[in-house]
Amino acid sequence: MDSSSEEDILLTATAVCCHLITSKPKKKWTKEWLKKRYQLSHINLLNELSLEPSDWRNYLRMDEYTYFKLLELVTPYIVKQDTKMRQAVSPNERLTATLRFLASGMSYEELKFQTVISPQLLGVIIPETCKAILMVLKDYMKMPETEAEWRTIAKGFEERWQFPNCLGAIDGKHVRIVPPPGSIATYYNYKKFFSIVLMACANANYEIIWCEAGVNGRRSDGGAITETRFYKKLNNHDLNIPNKKEPQNSTKDLPFVFVADEAFKLTPDLMKPFGKNALTPERRVYNYRLSRARRVIENVFGIMTRRFRIFNTAINLSIQRIDLVVLTCCILHNFLRRSGSNYSDYELSDIDDSTSTVEDNIPVQGIIPLNVINGNVSNDAKFVREEYVQHFNGEGAVSWQNERAFI
Ligand SMILES: *[C@@H]1O[C@H](CO)[C@@H](O)[C@H](O)[C@H]1NC(C)=O
Ligand SMILES: *[C@@H]1O[C@H](CO)[C@@H](O)[C@H](O)[C@H]1NC(C)=O
Ligand SMILES: *[C@@H]1O[C@H](CO)[C@@H](O)[C@H](O)[C@H]1NC(C)=O
Ligand SMILES: *[C@@H]1O[C@H](CO)[C@@H](O)[C@H](O)[C@H]1NC(C)=O
Repeated sequence: MDSSSEEDILLTATAVCCHLITSKPKKKWTKEWLKKRYQLSHINLLNELSLEPSDWRNYLRMDEYTYFKLLELVTPYIVKQDTKMRQAVSPNERLTATLRFLASGMSYEELKFQTVISPQLLGVIIPETCKAILMVLKDYMKMPETEAEWRTIAKGFEERWQFPNCLGAIDGKHVRIVPPPGSIATYYNYKKFFSIVLMACANANYEIIWCEAGVNGRRSDGGAITETRFYKKLNNHDLNIPNKKEPQNSTKDLPFVFVADEAFKLTPDLMKPFGKNALTPERRVYNYRLSRARRVIENVFGIMTRRFRIFNTAINLSIQRIDLVVLTCCILHNFLRRSGSNYSDYELSDIDDSTSTVEDNIPVQGIIPLNVINGNVSNDAKFVREEYVQHFNGEGAVSWQNERAFI
């Protein structure tokens, strides 16, 4: 962590101040009210919210217990020494400011009123705290490294969503941004706003197993995945994905695949739905079964955008910092998912109902889907998809699929 940047700001401010002194009557560089942080900031409010767990959770998007667990983890990385001149902003104030920034989508200019911290200093504190969060929570988001780990994921999809040999549900979304000066065209997407693309893959339990932010908005279709490190590894067979030919117990002679929506290109290891023009009753069944596995990632995006309202705004930071902030939301999502902190009503209603239909998807407001990609599909890919069609209409059929097969 770069501990000098905060002092830099103070020094710059002091330099400006001295400069002003020589030319103008004495002018203070800190507004009076900003000096009364202890008296005026929302930390006082939080002390009161402690008595109202649901308000606390609404304010910081996690319960008090989880908040203090996170604070304990990040404190060593964000604590600063007091100086003779002033008391340092405490880790509690830093983490609270950062979580409010993510939860509210407010600009630094607006956030200064709650935090009683200058926008300039927030611009240092928030990225630093995000980096600390990513560091201390890094074990909460891990791409599987061994066949056994991939098989555990596949087991989850089979047990919970009745989709065998599924290694993850992949999706990408446009995240709205204010484009950096000078690179406007690069981030202008097919929906006529500025964005970066967030690609993510979830396991059956709504945890993100990998994500990458930062493909620019111009690459607006499902082909954006080909620019991710994940895809390069997949193509180079570097992911240690299990081989279907190995002896296994049961049906699972099906290939191992990821699932995605129509925006993506069908490949032998990435299954997508059949298009509307190519439907048969058997393919409808396949589409329905696929969509059940796939909606896991849809719901992850839905939960994240409800929890972190920064996704409902045009994020106004440098591109590197946008990536940082987006990844922080993703890792916090996993942390909260596993820390037993209950979801609130605004976050979800029914995600654990394993027989609910795709229409129950949580709507995703702040972020939009990728554009559909068309192109030639290999026969290998078609063959794999056909194997799944056969499976879902034969050995792998479930009693409830037919009633729900009209989607
Ligand atoms: C193998 O399959 C049989 C029958 O489907 C089942 O009873 C048994 O528990 C399975 N064994 C393992 C190791 O999964
Ligand atoms: C983005 O932030 C800068 C200051 O960092 C500000 O000058 C600009 O007006 C903001 N743009 C939008 C669209 O909010
Ligand atoms: C979650 O909600 C349930 C039921 O509403 C409650 O019993 C439980 O204590 C809650 N857990 C946490 C960690 O808040
Ligand atoms: C798709 O295949 C056809 C026939 O094989 C070929 O003419 C065409 O160029 C291909 N299109 C793309 C985008 O590769």
